[in-house]
Amino acid sequence: MDAISVIRAKRDRGRLSDGQIDWVIDAYTRGEVADEQMSALAMAILLNGMDRAEIARWTAAMIASGERMDFSGLVRPTTDKHSTGGVGDKITLPLAPLVAACGAAVPQLSGRGLGHTGGTLDKLESIPGWRASLGNDEMLAVLADAGAVICAAGDGLAPADKKLYALRDVTGTVESIPLIASSIMSKKIAEGTGALVLDVKVGSGAFMKSLDDARELASTMVGLGTDHGVRTVALLTDMSTPLGRTAGNALEVRESVEVLAGGGPADVVELTLALAREMLDAAGLPDADPVKALADGSAMDVWRRMISAQGGDPSAPLPTAREQHVLTAPASGVLTALDAYAVGVAAWRLGAGRARKEDAVQAGAGVELHAKPGDTVAEGAPLLTLHTDTPERFQTALDALEGAFTLAPEGASFTPSPVILER
Ligand code: URA
Repeated sequence: MDAISVIRAKRDRGRLSDGQIDWVIDAYTRGEVADEQMSALAMAILLNGMDRAEIARWTAAMIASGERMDFSGLVRPTTDKHSTGGVGDKITLPLAPLVAACGAAVPQLSGRGLGHTGGTLDKLESIPGWRASLGNDEMLAVLADAGAVICAAGDGLAPADKKLYALRDVTGTVESIPLIASSIMSKKIAEGTGALVLDVKVGSGAFMKSLDDARELASTMVGLGTDHGVRTVALLTDMSTPLGRTAGNALEVRESVEVLAGGGPADVVELTLALAREMLDAAGLPDADPVKALADGSAMDVWRRMISAQGGDPSAPLPTAREQHVLTAPASGVLTALDAYAVGVAAWRLGAGRARKEDAVQAGAGVELHAKPGDTVAEGAPLLTLHTDTPERFQTALDALEGAFTLAPEGASFTPSPVILER
């Protein structure tokens, strides 16, 4: 077998055989298939697709590229959540400790920023001292002690996805249903969670722009999970505008802590509670009360234990960017749209994300929203604050924000989009 014949088969709209899929994933993991060959294959898959049987085989090959974890020794039922990626999507941060405070074990293997979307690990790394990489024993110890752990998938877990995920981020090959479904589900199945709730984002700031594509992605992933014995549920949720009022690493940690303290933006709280209920239901804990766990401080207690157990100081001040630029409303009126994709690209260009896979991210960079769709703003009032350590980036972020918001005359009617679109 050789890489060129596999690339040509998909380039020419053929089906990949089980043997071709098993070989190419294994050879790529071992370094025999080069990054440039895998990039070409990923692009061919993005353009020409895969059928359900190919996706199932590709996912199984990614799982088989590494080890599988075993949580059967834990007393609590395991439950996990994964988002397909959005702008301002910090939900994992309050959600994992909240669900743990309600009695489940949450082994949350998370990723780094991908394209214009932020990554949970990049966000948490803005907490001084916090470590994303844990050995399997250490991960189990944090999980047993705190009830939740958020960390990077170890090198041994779905290593094929680890390489491919970083490659797709810099080769324009993220937005592919077969590649997203297999990437997410290979990690989650290998991780060994008993239950999984998928947050499939829909809208300009998501990889799936239409409800139909999001439904297709959701049903592909639910099918993969169910076939591997994982109780899997998916919600389709809105990503036409950023979640909450921040996009960027430390900015989002700050907002997540506000939620754990009983405050925070209404959309972030609503989605956190909805996903918590789904996770608890899927874990066989339908009577647990996440509202109470937020109000009585028990979710915050788990957060502090979890952050400390991974070397972080939950009381340390979070980093802030060296420079700010405020974008003001050009006229008075009702903000009827604030485009998630534009805000995500702006945050990315300000330094919250990477242009190349080896780039470092800036902890303080990002965008702060002073108004959300539905708010009335006065001419000259702040709309957005841009944060970065490198002010030469302001112009390129401002270019991304050109046409990102719509102001209607004062008194104009506005119908908000629901946060949760479908289950
Ligand atoms: N999250 C993942 O883990 N993989 C993708 O491809 C997209 C989002």
